[in-house]
Amino acid sequence: MDRIVVQGNGPLSGEIAISGAKNACLALMPATLLSEEPLTLTNAPRLSDIRTMTTLLESLGAEISTMQDGKVLAMSSHAAENHVADYDIVRKMRASNLVLGPLLARHGHAVVSLPGGCAIGARPMDIHIDALEQMGAEIELRDGYLHATTKGGLKGAEIPLRFASVGATENIVMAATLAKGTTVLSNAAREPEIVDLVECLRRMGAQIEGEGTDTITIQGVDRLSGATHPVVADRIETGTFMLAPAIAGGEVELIGGRINLLGAFCEKLDACEIDVTETEKGLRVKRRNGRVGAVDVVTEIFPGFPTDLQAQMMALLCTADGVSVLEEKIFENRFMHAPELIRMGAQIDVQGGIATVTGVERLRGAPVMATDLRASVSLILAALAAEGETVINRVYHLDRGYERVEEKLGAVGAKIERVSDND
Ligand code: UD1
Repeated sequence: MDRIVVQGNGPLSGEIAISGAKNACLALMPATLLSEEPLTLTNAPRLSDIRTMTTLLESLGAEISTMQDGKVLAMSSHAAENHVADYDIVRKMRASNLVLGPLLARHGHAVVSLPGGCAIGARPMDIHIDALEQMGAEIELRDGYLHATTKGGLKGAEIPLRFASVGATENIVMAATLAKGTTVLSNAAREPEIVDLVECLRRMGAQIEGEGTDTITIQGVDRLSGATHPVVADRIETGTFMLAPAIAGGEVELIGGRINLLGAFCEKLDACEIDVTETEKGLRVKRRNGRVGAVDVVTEIFPGFPTDLQAQMMALLCTADGVSVLEEKIFENRFMHAPELIRMGAQIDVQGGIATVTGVERLRGAPVMATDLRASVSLILAALAAEGETVINRVYHLDRGYERVEEKLGAVGAKIERVSDND
């Protein structure tokens, strides 16, 4: 199993290219099931989660070829006749549940294993199920699988979500594109990845309005066509790499990074004395001077502070001048990076969903273990400015969501390498 080894060193400088968004791509790929014609995604990130979704869609009968070293995914579902999403694939990644809506829309029935994914909380599927039932689906759980059927196809409905779930919004929007009549989804999630999905569905001929607001209206159509769609830039990867010069010092330009997708995050960086400026090619980040300031953070649904940047922000605040309070409101059990950061000398007190971080002058390198995707990258960030060497074990979590992290950080001057047990 690979490890990442980081020697804490000085300021970073240079450019990092931002990849396409993992979470957008994972929602866009199942959209291929909605059409008999080819769907091609460009700017796809090269990640193990994308390979898992590829395997899942292929198991359903889709044909997928990758081009340009994996950055282009050419998908065709004209022969996709299987409607069973198997446990052995689905358990690897929660986003596998995004095939449920498209399979139901296409076949009128679907059998999808309940998913696994990062160990960051219970992550049930009740919101997805309730909404599909309101569209006329009958769904029951048997042997760990959701068995869903419809009599005469899905029907449009007025659906208020009890919580603005990202995955449920994506599933319902996709299902509703081919339903009979109009679906009005209220308290919908507003994340940029949903806007990207809707833009792609519209290119395929779907009739959708209101994406990016809390009410999305979908007028069902008889069929969708093929399309080519570029995956939006990854705002979470952008935010993660913004924190590298914030922690290690220096100045880094993130090519393709979009400030407008990171408003709440940028406000917090500003409060910590970190400058973010928009450039022609993306954005530039620089620590103003001296130690960063402490700041309180509450994770919220978009446009609030993203839960997927909470662990990385905690890594920054470990060396801030003062006490910061981080409240996690989206997932329970999402502070598993805290004990690892403590092993590096951080002072963190976790009580339920609240972590109090008392900044120390400097962290010290240590062997640590990655417990989930965002936790693993937070340990790399912390290691960039820590004294000595940090070895991050179990990096397969990292490979799910960060493309070539050691190359990207190495290119701006970080001393970072991947060590394989076979080396
Ligand atoms: C997506 C993202 C993930 C991000 C999360 C929140 C993808 C592939 N993943 O995950 O990186 O952290 O949004 O921004 O896009 N919930 C229920 N019942 C449901 C569905 C969700 O109770 O039926 C709860 C979950 O347990 C969780 C919260 O709602 O506490 C948020 O989940 P949701 O927005 O659905 O996140 P995902 O789509 O799984």
